[in-house]
Amino acid sequence: NPLNFSGVWRFRSLFPFAKDEQIVTVGEGQTLLQQADEVAKFVGLNAGKLHLQYEGMNPSGSFKDNGMTAAFTHANMVGAKRAACASTGNTSASLAMYCGVTRLMKAVIFIGSGKISYGKLSQALDYGALTLQIAGDFDDAMARVKEVSKDMGIYLVNSVNPFRLEGQKSVMFRVLEALQWEPPDWIVVPGGNLGNSSAFGKAFAELKELGLISRIPRLAVINASGADTLDQLYNQHDVRWNDGHYPRHKIAAYYEKMDADHAKASTLASAIEINRPVNLHKCLRALNDCDGVVRQVSDQEILDAKSRVGSGGMGCEPASAASVAGAKVLREQGIIAPSDRVVCILTGHLLKDPNATVAYHTTDQETFNSVLGSRGVKRATFANR
Ligand code: F0G
Repeated sequence: NPLNFSGVWRFRSLFPFAKDEQIVTVGEGQTLLQQADEVAKFVGLNAGKLHLQYEGMNPSGSFKDNGMTAAFTHANMVGAKRAACASTGNTSASLAMYCGVTRLMKAVIFIGSGKISYGKLSQALDYGALTLQIAGDFDDAMARVKEVSKDMGIYLVNSVNPFRLEGQKSVMFRVLEALQWEPPDWIVVPGGNLGNSSAFGKAFAELKELGLISRIPRLAVINASGADTLDQLYNQHDVRWNDGHYPRHKIAAYYEKMDADHAKASTLASAIEINRPVNLHKCLRALNDCDGVVRQVSDQEILDAKSRVGSGGMGCEPASAASVAGAKVLREQGIIAPSDRVVCILTGHLLKDPNATVAYHTTDQETFNSVLGSRGVKRATFANR
């Protein structure tokens, strides 16, 4: 059965919503867990203790394909002719690819102005998606696409869509399979819209209930400093799940203040430049179930970690490196021990966002200034090349 060649659908008995003949796949999810001792040294972990789950190997170059294949399958099941998303670039690349390859639907994409990297934008354009740049950032684009898709009956594939999360559970199935179903101590993941963390939490709860794992790994969700809503709410405002009775008023007050201050997310990790994560509540539940932690890392910490991931053999985009940078912070704070088994999720391919990488490594001042000059970031030092 060709479905068994998809790293997502070979686990379909763990999210059985489609019949085999209804499933739309392009061979997504064929990704591997890799031991990374060089990066472990940088993070402060013992040799053999750090693994990187490299989701950049997906057909569109990011983890999004894991969820998109599931949402796209559902869209097709309900007869959708158009599918839409707001995006910082990877969701749109993924949707556009499924539409382009299968010709089953037309893609309608909303992006913030000047907000997405050219690698990702070029995918959406070449795959033939209707790509609309709106005045504003991702949070504005997200609000807009929710209205438009509702008004016009267009199928929405952002991670508010529960089928996206069903597909993204498979990232954890593959990680656990590679570890012979012995859960690691920590899963560290970047946090933007909080789709992955929510999906992973659901995967663990279900696997435990099925008796496939005996304990749940702790999740560490890492925000970029310029887009730290989850970190602020969780660590500064004590917003917790607490049996479903989480303090909605605190969240509402936080967003009201953000609006009053005209606060906008700002990080060079453009993929996670998000202030209003759509899966906030589900993520809080996941954090509660696993005694999770949340941290934020600066653009500098992200770029430094990214170059270590690259020189250790695998590249990733800036947002992905937040996981490695976050693991390092948690190690330094003594929350992660040197002997803990840690898996960091690398969500997107190095080639997705080459400008930041070139600017970080170049000795050309003009190139540096044009991308990183305003961000208070220092270039790579010789030592971390
Ligand atoms: N890493 C990368 C490379 C991403 O593209 C995103 C999200 C995330 C992490 C965060 O995802 O929802 O699991 O917290 N990108 C979305 C997009 C927003 O439009 O491509 P999350």
